[in-house]
Amino acid sequence: MPAAPPVTLREITADTLRSIIRLDVGEHQKAFVAPNSVSIAQAHFEPKAWFRAIYAGEEPIGFVMVYENPEESEYFLWRFMIDHRHQGKGYGRAALSQVIERIRGLPAATRLLTSYLPGEGSPGGFYHRMGFVDNGDEDEGESITVLEF
Ligand SMILES: CC(C)(COP(=O)(O)OP(=O)(O)OC[C@H]1O[C@@H](n2cnc3c(N)ncnc32)[C@H](O)[C@@H]1OP(=O)(O)O)[C@@H](O)C(=O)NCCC(=O)NCCS
Repeated sequence: MPAAPPVTLREITADTLRSIIRLDVGEHQKAFVAPNSVSIAQAHFEPKAWFRAIYAGEEPIGFVMVYENPEESEYFLWRFMIDHRHQGKGYGRAALSQVIERIRGLPAATRLLTSYLPGEGSPGGFYHRMGFVDNGDEDEGESITVLEF
């Protein structure tokens, strides 16, 4: 079997923007994450947003956005998606591991939070496999889950 292409996080440029906007989740997953076009637009109005396209080799496969608040030493995984054609191949794990390593390396970071909508097809199980632990809090129907560094 050929080796899996390396996963990298890359800045989005005028040339790559359309290919990132075209990435999409499955029909039954649309409630779990906003379209990338919306996320990229929001990112441009939020100075604390850090966002990247996710690539496998030279192919764009996903998108990640983090809300960074260094004063509170708390980081929030705001958006995370792997295109439906590329899910289940370990790319989500590889990409999120890189995001975690980056944040862990920042001087003030103590934890990374995210929230997920529970239910059929929920990404909750994915986060738990990545080491996140639910803290029992909810925000607008979403469960808060936390990775302590
Ligand atoms: C959740 C998501 C990012 C996972 O990406 P992926 O590339 O398919 O995940 P991986 O193949 O890297 O899976 C890593 C591990 O998580 C598990 N996993 C993946 N999705 C899961 C899910 N929905 N529930 C439970 N476990 C899951 C895999 O079985 C694998 O387990 P293993 O390492 O023990 O073998 C992807 O399914 C997605 O984009 N979903 C739609 C958007 C979404 O829900 N984003 C999160 C918004 S809060």
